[in-house]
Formats: sequence, structure tokens, C-alpha cells
Amino acid sequence: MAQRETWTSRAGFIFAAVGSAVGLGNIWSFPFQTASNGGAAFLVVYLLAVFLIGFPTMLIEFTIGRRSKQNAVSAFAELGYGDWTFAGAIGVFASFITLAFYSVVGGWVISYIVGSVTGAYLGDAGAYFGSVSSGLVAVGAHALFIAVTIGIVAFGVADGIERATKFMIPAILVLLVGLAVWASTLPGAGAGYSYYLSPDFSVIASNFGDIVPAAMGQAFFTLSLGFGVMIAYASYLGRDDSLPGDSAIIVVLNTIVALLAGFAVFPILAATSGVGGASGGAGTAFIALAGAFGQLPAGQIIGLVFFIVLLFAALSSSISLLEAPTSYVVDSQGMERRTVAIGIGAVAFVLGIAPAYGYVGLFNDLVFNVLLPVAVLFIALFVGWVANREAVDELGRGSSIGEGATTIWLWWVRIVVPIAVIVTLYLGVTSFYTGLTTGAYF
Ligand code: PHE
Repeated sequence: MAQRETWTSRAGFIFAAVGSAVGLGNIWSFPFQTASNGGAAFLVVYLLAVFLIGFPTMLIEFTIGRRSKQNAVSAFAELGYGDWTFAGAIGVFASFITLAFYSVVGGWVISYIVGSVTGAYLGDAGAYFGSVSSGLVAVGAHALFIAVTIGIVAFGVADGIERATKFMIPAILVLLVGLAVWASTLPGAGAGYSYYLSPDFSVIASNFGDIVPAAMGQAFFTLSLGFGVMIAYASYLGRDDSLPGDSAIIVVLNTIVALLAGFAVFPILAATSGVGGASGGAGTAFIALAGAFGQLPAGQIIGLVFFIVLLFAALSSSISLLEAPTSYVVDSQGMERRTVAIGIGAVAFVLGIAPAYGYVGLFNDLVFNVLLPVAVLFIALFVGWVANREAVDELGRGSSIGEGATTIWLWWVRIVVPIAVIVTLYLGVTSFYTGLTTGAYF
């Protein structure tokens, strides 16, 4: 079998992992989840979820990946715990399902780039969304998006993924800063900032059951945790750098991008439809923002920049979603990467026809509310209680963190992460089940 690839440098790995983390979740879901869950109150819970649960969970995936040098499914057997393979398999299954609907939303972004150039959504954003979000146009754009994703993954880890993300991440940062600065000049920006940044804690108390699973699901999703993606990416690490150091950089950069997106989106909403007007599902974000671009001076060009940022973010994530199942087949069957990427991408395309006909919400909630928490629960139990010695040893390699910090991490992973995830899972499954039985998804 050919030698397994590795990243060319530590920075290459970090760019790729940040590329995976920074996606539609940061720029599209985050501001709108925040808007519809009470603004700053949600932000506080979300930040706690990212740093207290997400960060230690990323270390779980990194230790498994780097230790085993295998994809998320084979990793468990490679470490000598074949019985736990299912834990990785749930994650890889989640990444496959996610790729299917993520690519549909990526297709919407392509349609909005076209619409920014032609000006098609400026007059009536709702009608434009209706015409591109489902049906043949949506299927076509989804096909285009997934084709580009396949193209990048087919080139491999260093020539494809690393090179693409090294270009896209800096571009996203620069353009978002520009958008946020522009947004600060809008009349009414202040009202946007205050909704975004001054928490009303009574909102948390009265909506605990909604805010907690939303914030936790968002934290896992935005950090690409529970998908086996970070296991796969860490498996391509050729040498031992500090895993806690790398995770910290990735988590902080990912958070900066989400916060910046909020700094762009809230003033824009405040200046047009109002911050409260954007609550609701997947499409509301596209409609509210595109509608806002239609009302603002220079809105067309700003809209174009915004949707280009969104496209880069979506692509640098979708390649990691395809990489997780691809690496599994390449590692375990010894097949050629290009063939595998095309094959898996093609199946995900077919599966994505359902969300392209209106089932994005169903796919999204299945992943957010059920698959992710289940996958994270099992990998946390695995690292905490089963492979703890290997994980602790791996965490110490190349890093200067002391025994005390390692012990805290281990107990955190054993107790705190599982409890937080079980609460989330209970609330998330309840709301998913309610959605299924009330017909909210169909
Ligand atoms: N983190 C990505 C986002 O925020 C989504 C994603 C999840 C990408 C899992 C890859 C793997 O949009």
C-alpha cells in the first residue's frame, strides 16, 4: 500500500482544521441561532459550550487520530479496541449525511452569488429564495458544489485540502473584517450591537430547554466535532506538536470568525428588518440578509462579497466532510483516493436530492440533535474510561502541559463532558421527536 500522506507543516494542519471548523455554521447559522434564541444570552451559553465542552472534546479526537494514524473508523481497532469501532462509524455516517445537505446549502450560496451579480434577489428576496432553494435549480447548484468538493479532495491532503484552505481562510478573515467595518457605519448599528452583546439572563432561565441543546449542538457542529473529521485530520500529523496548543488556536480562530460574522450581520439586520425579524429556519437567514442587501446603499456589491465569503467557508468545510468517509475507504480498502472521492461524492449527491426538495431541516436536525451528541458521548466514554492511558500519553507528546492539567482533562472527559452531552441529547431527541410527530419536517 502506498505510504500514508501527511500535512506538509504544522500550519498546514491548522489551516485545514480551521477550514473544516469555519463554515456555514459560523457565518450562516451562528448569527441566526443567536438572533432567534435571545441574542447575547445565547451567545454566553454558546461560548461556555465551545470552551468548556468543545475544546476538551477536540483533544479527544486529536489524541485518537494522531495516536492511531488511522481514519475515524479503523482508529479504534488500530488502538486495540475493535469493539468501539461503532463509535467512529456513527461519526463518519454523520459526516456523510451532513455532506448531503451541506452541499445543498452550498448550492444555495452559489445561486446567491449569481443573484448578486444579476441583482435578481434585490427586489424580492423571498421570491428569489423560493425559486433557488428547492427543485431543479437547487439540484443543479448542489451538483456543482459537490463536484468542486470532490475535485479538491481527489488531489489529496497536501496538494488539495492544505493548499485550498491556505488560500481560503485568510480570504475569509480579511473579507469579514471588511464587512464588519462597513456594517458599523450603518444607521441603527448600535441597536444591533446591543441585542448581540448585552445579555438578558432571564432569557436563559426561561428558555433553558431550547438554548442549551441549540448552543451545544452549535458548538459541536462549528468545531466539526463528532464527525470523525478531526480524527482523520489529526491522523495525517507526521510529527508531534502540541495538541492543546493546536486546539486552542483552532478554537479561538473559529470563535473569532463566528463573532465577526455577528458583527457584520446584526448591524445589517438592525438597519433593515430589525434584529428580531430573523428568527426561524434555514431559509430565513438567506431571505433576511438578501432582503437587507436589497435595501442598503451598495448592497449588491456587499452581497456579492458576503456570499463569496460564505462559499469559501462552505467549501473548506465540505472537503473535510468528504475526507472523513474517503479516508476510511482509502485506508481500509487500499483503493485509489480519486476513485473513492468520486464514488462517495456521487452517493452523497443522490442522497442530497431529498434536501434539495425541501428536507434540509430534517437532515440538519437529525445531525444536530441526534447523531452528533451520540457520537461525542461514545468517543468521550472511550477516551475517558477505556483508552485513557494511551490518550493521556498522546496528549503529553510534544506539549508542555503538566500532569495536573492532564488529570483535569481526563476527569473532565470522564464526567463533565458525558453529563453535558446526555442532557443535550435528552433535550435534542425530545425536540426532534416532537418535530417528527407533529409533521414539522414534512
Ligand atoms: N464546522 C462546519 C461549520 O461550522 C461544519 C462541519 C462539521 C464541517 C463537521 C465539517 C465537519 O459549518
